[in-house]
Amino acid sequence: MTTASTPLTHRFREVMAAVCTPVSVVTAMADGLPHGTTVSAFASLSMDPPMVLVSLDRGSDLLAIVRETGRFGLNVLGSSQSELALNFARKGGTAKFTGIGFDLEETVPRIPGAAGFLACGVARLVDGGDHVVVLGDVLTADAAGAPPLTYHSREFGTHAALG
Ligand SMILES: Cc1cc2nc3c(=O)[nH]c(=O)nc-3n(C[C@H](O)[C@H](O)[C@H](O)COP(=O)(O)O)c2cc1C
Repeated sequence: MTTASTPLTHRFREVMAAVCTPVSVVTAMADGLPHGTTVSAFASLSMDPPMVLVSLDRGSDLLAIVRETGRFGLNVLGSSQSELALNFARKGGTAKFTGIGFDLEETVPRIPGAAGFLACGVARLVDGGDHVVVLGDVLTADAAGAPPLTYHSREFGTHAALG
């Protein structure tokens, strides 16, 4: 619980922790090697043309690769992939892909077993405070129909329909 005297950044964090998000791994290739980063800040942006947005920290190593190559993959994780989410939520460069298979689609890594996959071309990069919003044109889209991995109150979970 926060009060009026709680600093704004703390209150902001608490509100955002209560927002349930999907969990995805953004991927890209650099010098023939795969890179990936876990993100929750990913959303659909436009239907016609199909576009998405993903928000990456200015210090993200993956952001530098996406800037350079103009391409990225969005692997929307399923409920059985929380270990993958933790693996890609650390620093580690190409080592994050050690022991993790991938296919190349539209020149970006696709992680097998993900609930959904999008390959995107960078349309625009927009500065947003300490993050950069990457706007992407969707080049390919494939849904596997698996239950989603969600992040809420700093814990992984999944969706349950109210029925
Ligand atoms: C559930 C979860 C969600 C995250 N969401 C984001 C996000 O939306 N954007 C971001 O830049 N980092 C996010 N992170 C943190 C990055 O995954 C982490 O900083 C990573 O080490 C960045 O790696 P890189 O420097 O190789 O890109 C998230 C981490 C977790 C565990």
